[in-house]
Amino acid sequence: MPAKPSAPIPDFLYGTAWKEARTPALTTLALRNGFRAIDTANQRRHYFEAGVGEGLAEAYREGVVTRANLFLQTKFTYQPGQDHRLPYDPEAALSAQVAQSMASSLEHLGTDYVDSYVLHGPSSGYGWTDADAEVWEAMTKERDAGRTRLLGVSNVSLRHLEQMATAHADAPAFVQNRCYARLGWDRAVRAFCRERKIIYQGFSLLTANAEVLDHPLVTTLATRAGATPAQIVFSFAHSVGMLPLTGTSDATHMRQDLASLDLTLPQDVIQAMESLSG
Ligand SMILES: NC(=O)c1ccc[n+]([C@@H]2O[C@H](COP(=O)([O-])OP(=O)(O)OC[C@H]3O[C@@H](n4cnc5c(N)ncnc54)[C@H](OP(=O)(O)O)[C@@H]3O)[C@@H](O)[C@H]2O)c1
Repeated sequence: MPAKPSAPIPDFLYGTAWKEARTPALTTLALRNGFRAIDTANQRRHYFEAGVGEGLAEAYREGVVTRANLFLQTKFTYQPGQDHRLPYDPEAALSAQVAQSMASSLEHLGTDYVDSYVLHGPSSGYGWTDADAEVWEAMTKERDAGRTRLLGVSNVSLRHLEQMATAHADAPAFVQNRCYARLGWDRAVRAFCRERKIIYQGFSLLTANAEVLDHPLVTTLATRAGATPAQIVFSFAHSVGMLPLTGTSDATHMRQDLASLDLTLPQDVIQAMESLSG
């Protein structure tokens, strides 16, 4: 299997959920504004993956980016997370569904490999199941065949991760979770990831944490730094080792989000933000 070009692990991911008909134009806009990593899913209910592919094609045509310097991440989603627009035969074995979903993603995205392939969520909220084990083994086969460089899991608890580690030799490269400040910014899962050199991807950093955006610690610092509260949150996330996602539809916010990585937060502020609301 010839080695695929390896775009670097990004420091920001542009998320493409909930954009429907605006998906192609917003994907291109994000790339024009400097994003080099795209998150999507083969889950038509929340994502229009083929629209992401259209947006990528336009960016390639414009010479904004090439496939080789772009980080593309997509996901396998179990049937209960889907609507009727399935990317696989629901009667097929789960391992076959993974292969079918991946083939469909590659077609949607106009490529022969993705950089990261993520299990959108385990089959049960309580623990890692035999179904998850079958899907994960199928995902490792996709990686070994060169159709993805790296693997990840999403919407997982510490318990899922611990049980997964016991069941499989192959650890995920990424964990993607909704990150609530009131749960210590997912402290336990982040600690697990840090110990095992798994990169933690945080989403809903703004939408799940309205109380942080309004907190005097954040608003005062933002005013002093000439930044927005949203930028302080993204800068904090980056400072503690997270790979943040943003799904903004606004070009100014796109540029602000990327620029937040250039901010340096004082160590005492980072510590105070760690325990701001939980
Ligand atoms: N794995 C999963 O299950 C899962 C679940 C949810 C999301 N995700 C991924 O994460 C991505 C991001 O989703 P999200 O839940 O974090 O929400 P989001 O789609 O990024 O929403 C952010 C909201 O905050 C607003 N906003 C205000 N100021 C902003 C600023 N400076 N920068 C960015 N946004 C600003 C945005 O409005 P404007 O548009 O006006 O800026 C938008 O309404 C999704 O697109 C998807 O790829 C994954």
